[in-house]
Amino acid sequence: MNRQNGAERPYDVVLFGATGFVGTLTAEYLAAHAPEGCRWALAGRSRGKLAELRDRLSAENPHCAELPLLTADADDAGSLRELAGSAHVVASTVGPYVWYGEKLVAACAETGTDYTDLTGEAEFVDRMYLEHDGRARETGSRLVHACGFDSVPHDLGAYFTVQQLPEGVPLTVDGYVRTNAAFSGGTFASALTAMGRGPQMARAARERRLHEPRLVGRRARAPQGSPHFSPETGTWALPLPTLDPRVVERSARGLKRYGPDFRYRHFASVKHLPMALGGTAAMGLLAGAAQIPAARQWLSSRVEPGTGPGEARRGRSWFTVRFVGEGGGRRVCTEVSGGDPGYDETAKMLAEAALALALDDLPATSGQVTTAVAMGDALLGRLTAAGLRFRVAAVR
Ligand SMILES: NC(=O)c1ccc[n+]([C@@H]2O[C@H](COP(=O)([O-])OP(=O)(O)OC[C@H]3O[C@@H](n4cnc5c(N)ncnc54)[C@H](OP(=O)(O)O)[C@@H]3O)[C@@H](O)[C@H]2O)c1
Repeated sequence: MNRQNGAERPYDVVLFGATGFVGTLTAEYLAAHAPEGCRWALAGRSRGKLAELRDRLSAENPHCAELPLLTADADDAGSLRELAGSAHVVASTVGPYVWYGEKLVAACAETGTDYTDLTGEAEFVDRMYLEHDGRARETGSRLVHACGFDSVPHDLGAYFTVQQLPEGVPLTVDGYVRTNAAFSGGTFASALTAMGRGPQMARAARERRLHEPRLVGRRARAPQGSPHFSPETGTWALPLPTLDPRVVERSARGLKRYGPDFRYRHFASVKHLPMALGGTAAMGLLAGAAQIPAARQWLSSRVEPGTGPGEARRGRSWFTVRFVGEGGGRRVCTEVSGGDPGYDETAKMLAEAALALALDDLPATSGQVTTAVAMGDALLGRLTAAGLRFRVAAVR
């Protein structure tokens, strides 16, 4: 590996999209928690908005008055290359990523810069694998997508669960997600975009399967489960075809600790059957509407970009992910839990992932890697110290 992420770069972490809804929360988190001596900068497309953000941050924390402001546009490859070349790690909140993400990933792969984002878009992740994994391996860049609620609690929760199970035997893990959270304009736009691109998503997944090297002597799978009542959680479990199970599967491919034959299934966990049925019908309707451009545009215009749940609403929000793991005669229930998943905790996860890449002693990896593979123990330790809970609930 020819690592070009040299020590001479001016910034440890650059936050791109700092002026958006989650970007601002991430900037606030870094302002409060980046360790002394960590050189970080705010980046975005509007210098005026960046300056306003810096003024707000420095009202709380006078050190922030000196924060560097970097301008770049997601459509301008030259400005992104300059941005990437100035940093060890770029964390991006500029989505929908399928529209705005590729040029920055290309710039990071080219300049040997580590990259993190908040995407939950499977098509984008597969495309970036096909287009940029090879170059990133050559330059030593780590491309770590999905560093928010998609998919950190699920990826690290499965990683934590595997560590409670015996080594060298086939393992199964099921994850059950519950939350009461609301969403932002940016998340809604990204979800609608992804729902409207079913064929492109399927094509990218197919091409990736053709290119990805086969695992030799081991298996790692994430098949879709069936709806059922789960006695472990006391809730109805509905298969959740998000990016998360793909990420867990890729971690199992990358880490031998997941054993010779690993299977992960991912579910939404709903207390009452009518709610489960209503939720499924509503998602079906939304997915159907997302196929019609005019309906998609109308739905998009209902929730403004840059807006999201206020502090009081986020303060009432929570999530839990229950995992049931089995293998080698042992059965374990674990749980990851925290506060507002999509925004407060997501900002924390993105910031801590960027800090881990910039500052921690991590396993030697490069190319497109998951959070568990790139920084499993380090990120787990950081997030636990930052208030997320990873615990073993029961063992048999
Ligand atoms: N993984 C998760 O769990 C999770 C959770 C939350 C959000 N997300 C994702 O994170 C992304 C951001 O969400 P959000 O709610 O923060 O959205 P948002 O408020 O709309 O923010 C989008 C950001 O992108 C910037 N931007 C847009 N076009 C740009 C361009 N051409 N060049 C440079 N910057 C550009 C915006 O800049 P301006 O400020 O100048 O407009 C803004 O900073 C979405 O894709 C969302 O799905 C994921």
